[in-house]
Amino acid sequence: MQSRAQTPPPQALARFQRADFRVPEDVVYLNAASHGPRLARVQQAAQRALDAGTAPWRLEMDAWRASIEDVRRGVAGHLDGDADGVALVPSAAYGLSLAARNLPLAANETVLVLAGQFPSNLLPWQQRCQDVGAHLEQVARPVGDDGRPGDWSDAVLAAIARAPRLRIVSLPQVYWHDGSRLDLDRIAAATHARGAALVLDLSQSLGALPADIVRWRPDFVASVGHKWLLGAYGLAYLWASPAWRERGVALEQHWIAREAATVFDSPPSPPPLASGARRFDAGGVAEPQRLAMSAAAFAQLRDWGLECVHAGLQARGRCLREALRAQGLGDWLATAPGSHFVGLRPPPGRLADAAAALDGAGVIHTARGGVLRLAPHLDVDEAALAAVAALLARAVG
Ligand SMILES: Cc1ncc(COP(=O)(O)O)c(C=O)c1O
Repeated sequence: MQSRAQTPPPQALARFQRADFRVPEDVVYLNAASHGPRLARVQQAAQRALDAGTAPWRLEMDAWRASIEDVRRGVAGHLDGDADGVALVPSAAYGLSLAARNLPLAANETVLVLAGQFPSNLLPWQQRCQDVGAHLEQVARPVGDDGRPGDWSDAVLAAIARAPRLRIVSLPQVYWHDGSRLDLDRIAAATHARGAALVLDLSQSLGALPADIVRWRPDFVASVGHKWLLGAYGLAYLWASPAWRERGVALEQHWIAREAATVFDSPPSPPPLASGARRFDAGGVAEPQRLAMSAAAFAQLRDWGLECVHAGLQARGRCLREALRAQGLGDWLATAPGSHFVGLRPPPGRLADAAAALDGAGVIHTARGGVLRLAPHLDVDEAALAAVAALLARAVG
């Protein structure tokens, strides 16, 4: 199921109501890249599940299993539509560790990542490379003529072309610090041309951008569920390509990943693995409250329409960049057009003032590594973004 972001009809954008979110009136929540804002529907679903938990004897196994499959279908709707390819895992790092555990890698072969990539998509590769004596290449971000961070994609393509014995490329679609996008159409083609495996961490893009799985042909895709997918913390996803659904090895031995028919009958040897990517399902994460929250979030995103959500988030990224430029802060922008969230690099010594002004005005953001990250979701409107830009300009003016 593919979806390309298009400009939605105006009435579709107008359907996003602040009341659909549980964000207090005195807060401007610009931290969706850390944790998505809480949807009212998700809060209600969580409360219902909590209440239902007071009578565990009424929770039926069949209904619980059906709710797991419902979430699997919800994730698949953001990928290639095939729920068979989706496993439920506790974190992106768990999914990426599964990828690192399974993909072949030998001494002196190369794994390629971005320098400064999120640790969940770095540590599994560092460890695996160390274990087998492989080389981890961390592509440095180019610096533009104006001294500002440049585009990742060309640097990644050049590294893919020259890396000796390239075996695995493991990348995000969007750089977590500042929202910069990588051109996965070109990068996936170049990776396949070298015969290397492709692993994607879509934690900062799934729910906000289309994921063209059919075109990219990754081996594994991991994503958290609590950022742009607006679901529960502790319920993340791993998509595995058809080949890995047949032969992949799990990280643990949990009954949830085995065929249900005989698993409780103490069979003499392990019963068959569950079908599709279910063989990678982790124990303990399919907890009713988390499932209910994530299912409610998928339902809300579907009701809004994924294309409308993608376009609405793009519009907010664009609007924020324009507002910052209009306030004379364009030089701070560390993000190229097309990002749904924004990184700002204030001149040295100004970041603390800018962050303090945001804190004082109830603008929730992240300040890390010299970058202010402003990540609005659909609860934030144009007027609020313009006010944030004006506030920053006053704070450093
Ligand atoms: C790119 C990226 N990957 C993964 C994560 C989270 O990974 P995990 O679920 O392993 O904590 C984050 C942020 O928390 C992120 O920005």
